[in-house]
Amino acid sequence: MKRIGVLTSGGDAPGMNAAIRAVVRTGLEKGWQVYGIQQGYAGLGDDLMIDLTARDVGGIIQRGGTMLGSARCAAFRTEEGRKQAITNLVKRDIDGLVVIGGNGSQTGAYEVSKLGFPVVGIASTIDNDLYGSEITIGVDTALNIALEAIDRLKTTASSHHRAFLVEVMGRDCGYLALIAGITGGAEAIVIPEIETDPEQLAVELRSAYNRGKAHAIIVVAEGARYNAGRLTDYFKTHSQRLGFELRTTQLGHVQRGGAPGAFDRLLATRLGAAATEQLSKGNTGVLVGLQKGFIIATPLEEVVTSKKLLDTSLFDLARVLGK
Ligand code: F6P
Repeated sequence: MKRIGVLTSGGDAPGMNAAIRAVVRTGLEKGWQVYGIQQGYAGLGDDLMIDLTARDVGGIIQRGGTMLGSARCAAFRTEEGRKQAITNLVKRDIDGLVVIGGNGSQTGAYEVSKLGFPVVGIASTIDNDLYGSEITIGVDTALNIALEAIDRLKTTASSHHRAFLVEVMGRDCGYLALIAGITGGAEAIVIPEIETDPEQLAVELRSAYNRGKAHAIIVVAEGARYNAGRLTDYFKTHSQRLGFELRTTQLGHVQRGGAPGAFDRLLATRLGAAATEQLSKGNTGVLVGLQKGFIIATPLEEVVTSKKLLDTSLFDLARVLGK
């Protein structure tokens, strides 16, 4: 292997820059040339590649986002788009590719590997819904941002005797909501994996009010059937029954915008180094992720055809602790 490319794809995640840095510097250490591909798979198709030196990735480990840019690319979902991408790689004598991203990005990586091109994926998404890594790059930082918001909302909620619906990201996965809820001391948590009856939730809020609670925080996953919007609508017509006055806050992309914490910087650094190691061993068509403290390579086929399950036992614990 002489030249490799690295790209970030899908939703950005705090720690992606640390992963790029590790890929570039460990790649250079092996004597390779490393190209940064801009704007994810879109840049691969449009031949947007820059030669990266050790200096080019200096001063980025502490920055959120991705210095390479990211995109969600419709053209890459077609075989024609993928073939064009491989043509662009081959034209520059690039013989290995590192894809930093979540589910959609690793599905793209699998498709490229099926066409015979050596690819290694790095597990990165704030949603923590990717099979092959117990925790993915960006999750810890996103959780801490959500927690800071919950702590602040609790202060104002208590002053006004209010209930707050706090919606967090996560796509179809309730991980962020569940962990932010339990660590933020929420009174209730609403996630897609467990059916929520808004009627029952109203009863629980009223009961919390009657027990003398000064506030109620309900952490809601955006992917839940009753997301913050639907719950707000539902409770509008039942407000007198809650006791608390209700307010709603959607954290949205704020969660993705933070500077990565120590956990994400270290995870991204280890995964970046592991990706070039796998490429040099010729073990491609895999995703590198963290499992039981070790960096493990899992075949991309297994990654894209398996579903990561959420440990819902924490949901029951959160119910007890939120009393
Ligand atoms: O996958 C990461 C994520 O932030 C999800 O939690 C969210 O649903 C989605 O991306 C938002 O996508 P976009 O940035 O394209 O609006």
